[in-house]
Amino acid sequence: MPVLSEDLRKRIRAEFPKYPDKRAVTLNALHMVHDEKREVSTEAVREIAELLELHPSEVLDTMTFYNFFHEADNPLGKKRVWVCRSISCMLRGGEELFQGLCQKLNVTAGHRTSDGQVTLEFAECLGACEQAPCMLVNEDCYGNLDEAAALKAIGGE
Ligand code: FES
Repeated sequence: MPVLSEDLRKRIRAEFPKYPDKRAVTLNALHMVHDEKREVSTEAVREIAELLELHPSEVLDTMTFYNFFHEADNPLGKKRVWVCRSISCMLRGGEELFQGLCQKLNVTAGHRTSDGQVTLEFAECLGACEQAPCMLVNEDCYGNLDEAAALKAIGGE
């Protein structure tokens, strides 16, 4: 049974005409699979490679270069939370905020909570330094955070 659905394969194939060759679709394909599956498994890498007519190691090289994609042994939670650790946020308590969230959510950096809801990660500058400390929850940016505000943003309360 293939890991990539026919719909996902169709969406990846739809990218082909936009690029000079199939290899150039590698990153887009990885993003599509990652968004849908919350991980990129070894089998998914193999299937992407097959679609793009590449060796699986070429897809894996791209995937691991970016340190963005989660593999099957550490899938993403439903919410991906990035706490900024760059200079402005660090000076305004970003590290402490991150450590506090790790404790409250009972999770370690780069991993997801036991209920599968939240993955907590460090980010570099989110481009919202004037609101330090900041974090992203999926695509939404939150600033001027303390621990309570961050937990509220994560919990959607
Ligand atoms: Fe955190 Fe720029 S340093 S948003």
